[in-house]
Parts: sequence; C-alpha cells; structure tokens
Amino acid sequence: MKALIVGNGGREHALAWKFQQSPQVNQVICVPGNGGTAMLPNCINIPLPVDDLEGIARAALVNGVGLVVVGPELPLALGITDYLQGQGLKVFGPSKVGAQIEASKAWAKALMAEAGVPTAAWAVFSDRVAAKAYIAQQGAPLVVKADGLAAGKGVIVCGSEAEAEQAVDSLFQQGFSTIVIEEQLAGEEVSVLAIADGKTLRMLLPAQDHKRIGEGDTGANTGGMGAYAPAPVLTPALSEQVERNILQPTLRALQQRGIDYRGVLYAGLMIAPGGKPSVLEFNCRFGDPETQVLLPLLESSLADILSACVDGRLDQLPPLQWRSGSAVCVVASAEGYPGSYSKGMAIAGIESAQAQDVLVFQAGTKLQQQQLIVTGGRVLGVTAVSSDFDSAIAKAYRGLESIQFPGIYYRRDIGYRVRHHNSEASP
Ligand code: AMP
Ligand code: GLY
Repeated sequence: MKALIVGNGGREHALAWKFQQSPQVNQVICVPGNGGTAMLPNCINIPLPVDDLEGIARAALVNGVGLVVVGPELPLALGITDYLQGQGLKVFGPSKVGAQIEASKAWAKALMAEAGVPTAAWAVFSDRVAAKAYIAQQGAPLVVKADGLAAGKGVIVCGSEAEAEQAVDSLFQQGFSTIVIEEQLAGEEVSVLAIADGKTLRMLLPAQDHKRIGEGDTGANTGGMGAYAPAPVLTPALSEQVERNILQPTLRALQQRGIDYRGVLYAGLMIAPGGKPSVLEFNCRFGDPETQVLLPLLESSLADILSACVDGRLDQLPPLQWRSGSAVCVVASAEGYPGSYSKGMAIAGIESAQAQDVLVFQAGTKLQQQQLIVTGGRVLGVTAVSSDFDSAIAKAYRGLESIQFPGIYYRRDIGYRVRHHNSEASP
C-alpha cells in the first residue's frame, strides 16, 4: 500500500517514520513534507499547500494511494475528507462537520453539553456589549476564545476584567464574529488522544505537552515545545474515567448528530487538584509534539490501526501494544519564535545526534541542494525512549547538544512535572 500524509510538521515526520515500519506500506508520500521526510527512504515529498484539496486528490489518485492521513486541522476543517472520499479515496480524519469539534469552540461546547461531558462553564457572544456585561457579572479570571481556527492564538487567559475586555475587543477586531468566554480551570493539563471509527474508540497513552515558550511554563503560547508519554498525572483509574465519562459520551453525541467521526479524537484535559478531569478543548487530529512521543512507544502497526479505523472495524483490532518505558521529546525552535524569526540558517549535527540513540523528527526544515536549512519556527524535535523517564530525558538533551543552527532555542525543563510526580510518589 502507498500512504499519503498531508502536512509538514514533526507530527507528519513521525507518522511517515512509523508508517515505514508497517510491512504493508511500501511507499509514503508527504504533501508537502519537510527536510526530514525528504530524507526518509521510500518517502517522497510533493510540494503542494495543505489546503490545495484538488491538487492533493490528484496526487493521491495518480500515485494509487491506498490511505490518506491528514495531519493538520486546517484541511480537515475545509472538508478534505469529504472531498477525497468523493473521489473514491480512503481518508483518515473526520469529515468537515466532525472537524468542527476543533474548528468551532461554540459547536464543541454545545456538543459537550449534549454529551454531559465536564467542561468549564461558558457563554457564547457575537457582540461586544453583551460579552463585556458577562465579564462584569462573572468577574476575573476568565478565558476568552475565538470561535474559529486561530493557529494557537485564539485563546487568551485573562487574570483581570480589563484584560478580558481587551481580549474581546482584540478578537472582534481580528474579524472573529463569535467568541466563547469561559471560567478558568486550575490544575494540570494532559492530552488524551483516541482513535475513533464512529462507534468504537481506542485510547492512546496519555501525553503531556509544554505549550509556553519559556521555562516554568512562562511567556507566549506556542504550538508545543516538548512532550512526554505516558503522563503519570493520568493514572489508570483516571484514564478509565476519561474514557467512560468523556470520550465515549462525546462519540455517542457525535453519533446522535448523525456524524460518523473517523479519526483522532484528542481531548485537551485539565485535571483539577482533587483529580477531576474536565475538557479544555477537543482537537480533530494528532497532537504535535505529542505524536512524536506516542508513535515511538507504539509497537502495533500504525497502518493496521488507521486502516481498521477508516474501515469501521476498530472493534476487531487486537489491543494496542505499547513499549514499556517513557518517551520524551524536546523541540528546538528558531530564535524569536513564536514571534517573527529568521529562516535559511544551515542545520548541522543531526547524524551525530541520531548516533546517540535518539530520533530526530524535523518540522520547519527544508533540504536545499543537499543542505538542511531552517524554514519554520519549530525546527525539529529530539525524541528519546528509555526504560525510565529520567534516562529518556537525559538522552534527549544529550542528543540535542549535537545539533546546531544559529539561534537554536529549547526549553531545558521539559518533563519537570514528571519529576515532581515521581518525587511525590517516592517515600
Ligand atoms: P490552544 O491549544 O491553543 O487552544 O490553547 C489552549 C490553552 O489555553 C490550553 O492548553 C490551556 O493552557 C489554556 N486554557 C484553555 N481553556 C482554559 C480554561 N478554561 N481554563 C484554564 N486554561 C485554559
Ligand atoms: N500540542 C498541542 C496540539 O497539538 O494542539
């Protein structure tokens, strides 16, 4: 089978790498891919934008692709799945209507209410006056969210009423016509991804991301600066609770709306200090960098899982097999990210990092005349797998020390919460 992966991040490099280990996959095509996927054996890049649905359909048909896997949310929200299925292609990723679970916060909140899923109290507004009256009535802290895809910049956590009012003005000024204002939840965040085939779901290991640019979770929000799995905050008991009280009811509510949701159902959860999980948001795709730690731990064939999902037979799939131990990914970004940053710098040292038993998943890179150069803010992620968390983290940082490009930046505290959990757990 030939597989086509839409996207160009570390997530897509990890998907392509994992696909190559499935015996039934003989070629991977990445659209557009990056420097990392260009260097994988039996993998080619086709340079088309991820929202060029017609171009992607043509590439898949001409190449006889058996399965298309969509990485990012944008093409899913544009209806890539419906479009490609209309051309007779098999696609892993929800339909346009299902992708609203990520693309519209108001839609997702209404669905959660139908499903009886715990989430922060909220209200939806399409005018500033009503939004500001609500802010005055509720008082800070509050979280103001754009009701649309905003490339990670649509959520503003506001410590004061003045900040919340400013956030409202700013989102309406940016052209959003609807916003959600919700209660701020406290606790520890965790990403729980499940593969859903419309009726059945299979949970992946819990993972934890590090969204802020600065150490100690300070500074601006980013796409994610590092991740690890499994995240100890989600104990087996909590994990079962999340499946029963959050994921299953959400899938049933989708079914009741007539939505045959096939793809990743990703719940961004807040675990309250007392242990109660609530949904902060749903995503309709694999997480990045979470995928960079989940796939190296997955022993089962990715092609088997995703094919079974697309064919609606996840219930017949044997239990997912996982390696024991932990995986840690540290993302290296270009200086200035998530603000403006320079591009075109040469990247060196990937081979010597790989020689130290780490995986280097590339994101914002391009192979130009045999030289790897920086093209994006999150440049690459170094993932290490080991029998215990501390040695995985040490290995990831050792690997990173071999990699150089001008202005390289990475957080040095990836995984600090696990250390905290471990120290609490030990006598
Ligand atoms: P994003 O993944 O870009 O939508 O960012 C959402 C982030 O905003 C989450 O990871 C949380 O850190 C934060 N967030 C969203 N909703 C809430 C909430 N109700 N309470 C506290 N933090 C929130
Ligand atoms: N790592 C966060 C996300 O993929 O949305």
